[in-house]
Amino acid sequence: MANKHYSVPSFLLTNYFFLFLLSSSSPSSAFPLSTSSRWIVDDAAGGQRVKLACVNLVSHLEPMVAEGLSKLPIETIAEKIGSMGFNCVRLTWPIYLVTDESLSSLTVRQSFQRLGLIDTAAGIQANNPDIVDLPLLQAFQQVVSTLGENNIMVILDNHITTPGWCCSNDDGNGFFNDRYFDPNLWLTGLTRMATLFNGSTAVVGMSLRNELRGPKQNTQDWYKYMQQGAEAVHAANPNVLVVVSGLNYDKDLSFLSSRMVKLSFGKKLVFEAHWYGFTDGQAWADGNANEVCGRVSGNMKRMSGFLLEAGYPLFFSEFGIDQGGGNLNDNRYINCFLGYVAEFDLDWAYWTIVGSYYLRQGVAGWSESYGLLDRDWVEPRNRSFIERISAVQMPFRGNHIRETGLFCLRISC
Ligand SMILES: *[C@@H]1O[C@H](CO)[C@@H](O)[C@H](O)[C@H]1NC(C)=O
Ligand SMILES: *[C@@H]1O[C@H](CO)[C@@H](O)[C@H](O)[C@H]1NC(C)=O
Repeated sequence: MANKHYSVPSFLLTNYFFLFLLSSSSPSSAFPLSTSSRWIVDDAAGGQRVKLACVNLVSHLEPMVAEGLSKLPIETIAEKIGSMGFNCVRLTWPIYLVTDESLSSLTVRQSFQRLGLIDTAAGIQANNPDIVDLPLLQAFQQVVSTLGENNIMVILDNHITTPGWCCSNDDGNGFFNDRYFDPNLWLTGLTRMATLFNGSTAVVGMSLRNELRGPKQNTQDWYKYMQQGAEAVHAANPNVLVVVSGLNYDKDLSFLSSRMVKLSFGKKLVFEAHWYGFTDGQAWADGNANEVCGRVSGNMKRMSGFLLEAGYPLFFSEFGIDQGGGNLNDNRYINCFLGYVAEFDLDWAYWTIVGSYYLRQGVAGWSESYGLLDRDWVEPRNRSFIERISAVQMPFRGNHIRETGLFCLRISC
């Protein structure tokens, strides 16, 4: 998080400015978080802004174990995340992790053995001997606490009900009352997870559900259940930010412009949205990049960006590109998207830190082309991308800092 990409002119090194940098680079003290209009702030630090610059770490696939543990010790993963300038992880989990005893009672080793991933179990034994024989839920807690010890804030994201790759319209996990999306089981799961981490200073937020979607989606049920989910999390764990996603794969929160959610508590509500290059099909590759950027930025504002002006924090909790550099659609999109992130100084989470998955869609060791780390979790796939993204890791603005020339210090302008 250090300001290593430019030298700060001495006239800016007032105490005020310096404190600002220091406090935003020590997330360990940033607990609990609250909201103040569109900003996420640290109450304990006098309401100082905290900008979420996160990566997604996947823990909702069939093994129900955070990815990468067969490659590296969890401490090393946490250190790598921090050394790349991220201050936070969006950690995904499936409801069954806390509601299905036959799964959650498995140890990590048993979970891999039952999937035939014998080599992976051996990798975990070698790299994380303290974790390999823990039950899945305790292993999850161990991952969270290690991230916290390394000053990485954690946002727990309920990604899906049934462990496995997400998301499609017909996977039964898309919307309330789909085949695997029993609202009561979901509320039970959220309550258990929130209770488990009540008192943990690592967990700063919980997002209620990833990418609602599919033929059943409607705003009436959205208000009903999302309000219930938010209340359930807050009742079990009043410290966490409650992160609420929209419809249509978390693209659409536009319906809130005519009716806001009603909650019994304040200062904890954050909205989240997702936007990838492929959200607009091949529009970026096929069209004029400037023209598409103008149109898509307008769409993002209409779908979710308007919430900032309405006084709510908006967390872009998934975006990402093919790190290989050969995807024209992605390359054009990311130019535009990072401009949008900078302009509104958004909170965000890159998809993903994962270099390869234990098992994705039936393929063992699936190499993640959007992953920041390579297949073996050793080197960045693309160093120039890490450099680029570092430009939006630090806050440009905040509730305590007027809009000065800070923006221009980070981005050439
Ligand atoms: C959560 O923890 C706080 C202490 O930090 C405690 O006062 C409260 O009772 C706990 N809530 C629940 C629901 O366990
Ligand atoms: C990294 O991404 C850039 C485009 O952003 C691309 O030109 C370059 O080839 C990529 N590098 C590697 C090592 O893939």
